[in-house]
Amino acid sequence: MDRIRVTGGNELNGVIPISGAKNAALPLMIASLLTDDTLTLENVPHLADVEQLIRILGNHGVDYSVTGRRQQQDVGYSRTVHFTARNIVDTTAPYELVSKMRASFWVIGPLLARTGEAKVSLPGGCAIGTRPVDLFISGLKALGAEIEIENGYVHASAPNRLRGARFIFPKVSVGATHVMLMAACLADGETVIENAAMEPEVVNLSSCLNAMGARIKGAGTPTITISGVTSLSGARHRVIPDRIETGTYAMAVAMTGGDVLLDGAKAKLLAAALEAIARTGVEISEESGGVRVRRNGGVISPVDVATAPFPGFPTDLQAQFMALMTRANGTSHITETIFENRFMHVQELARLGARISLSGQTAIVEGVSELEGAPVMATDLRASVSLVIAALAAKGETIINRVYHLDRGFERLEDKLARCGADITRISD
Ligand code: UD1
Repeated sequence: MDRIRVTGGNELNGVIPISGAKNAALPLMIASLLTDDTLTLENVPHLADVEQLIRILGNHGVDYSVTGRRQQQDVGYSRTVHFTARNIVDTTAPYELVSKMRASFWVIGPLLARTGEAKVSLPGGCAIGTRPVDLFISGLKALGAEIEIENGYVHASAPNRLRGARFIFPKVSVGATHVMLMAACLADGETVIENAAMEPEVVNLSSCLNAMGARIKGAGTPTITISGVTSLSGARHRVIPDRIETGTYAMAVAMTGGDVLLDGAKAKLLAAALEAIARTGVEISEESGGVRVRRNGGVISPVDVATAPFPGFPTDLQAQFMALMTRANGTSHITETIFENRFMHVQELARLGARISLSGQTAIVEGVSELEGAPVMATDLRASVSLVIAALAAKGETIINRVYHLDRGFERLEDKLARCGADITRISD
């Protein structure tokens, strides 16, 4: 199993290309199930989660081909992938495939809308809380689906087409919003979704669906209206830049000091996070083609944050921000409001010398003047990259085990950081 070795202390200087967003690419790929035509996606990142979803879609009958740059070529530049679901050959998404990645549960929406049935295993994914699927089920039921849960599988059927309806989400869910959008596109009549997720990935999916012939209005606001159509066609669509990758590297520079252009990043996709990072004492400026992050000397100021649905501070950047705060000149409070068990990185950061205590959903981080390298373990996708950020500033060597978590969501992380001066290498056993 691969490990990553980091020797801390180097500044970061140079250019980091920002990849296509994993969390946008996954629902866009799933949308290919809605049409027998070809959906071409540009800027698809080369990641373990993308490869896993390709396997899952293949099981349903989706063919794919890749054009453009490959992984071995220029670092960080994603690929163009063509997906064609000419025939849906199987409407079951089995446990062996779905258990590896929660987002694969989302195939339930398009499979049901296009074929009138779907049998999808209850999901797995990152171990960050219970992550139920009640919102998906009540949403699809509102569209007229009949749903039963049996032996770990959700059976959904709508033999006479889904029907448009008004549905108010009791809680904001990104995944359930994606699924409702995809299902309602092919429903009979108008659907109104209230309290919808406003994340940029929802907007990206909605504009792709509209390019395929759907009639969706209001994505990016809490109320989305979808007028159902009888079929969708192919389209060509571009995956947005990864705002979580952008925020992660911005925090890495905030941690080490230096001057880095995050090439291809869009500041408006993560305004709340950039504002918090700037308050730690970092200069952030938008430039044509990207976002520049600069810290030349000076202390890291403590800043309190609480995670919230978009446009709030993203939960997917909480662990990284905590890593940054371990070196702050004072005490900060980091509150997690989205997932109930997303502090697994605290113990590992403590192994590097961080001083963090937990009080309910809030972590109290007392900044220390120095972290020290140690062997640590990646526990989930975002937690593992927080250990990299801490290690970049720690004295001596840190070995990060279980790197497969990182490979799920960060395209060629060690190459991107090494090119900017970090002492970081992958050890393959
Ligand atoms: C997506 C992102 C993930 C991010 C999260 C929140 C992808 C592939 N993943 O995950 O990186 O951390 O949004 O921004 O895009 N919930 C329920 N019932 C449900 C569904 C969700 O209670 O049926 C709860 C969850 O347990 C959680 C909250 O709703 O507490 C938000 O989760 P949700 O927005 O659905 O996250 P995901 O779509 O799984």
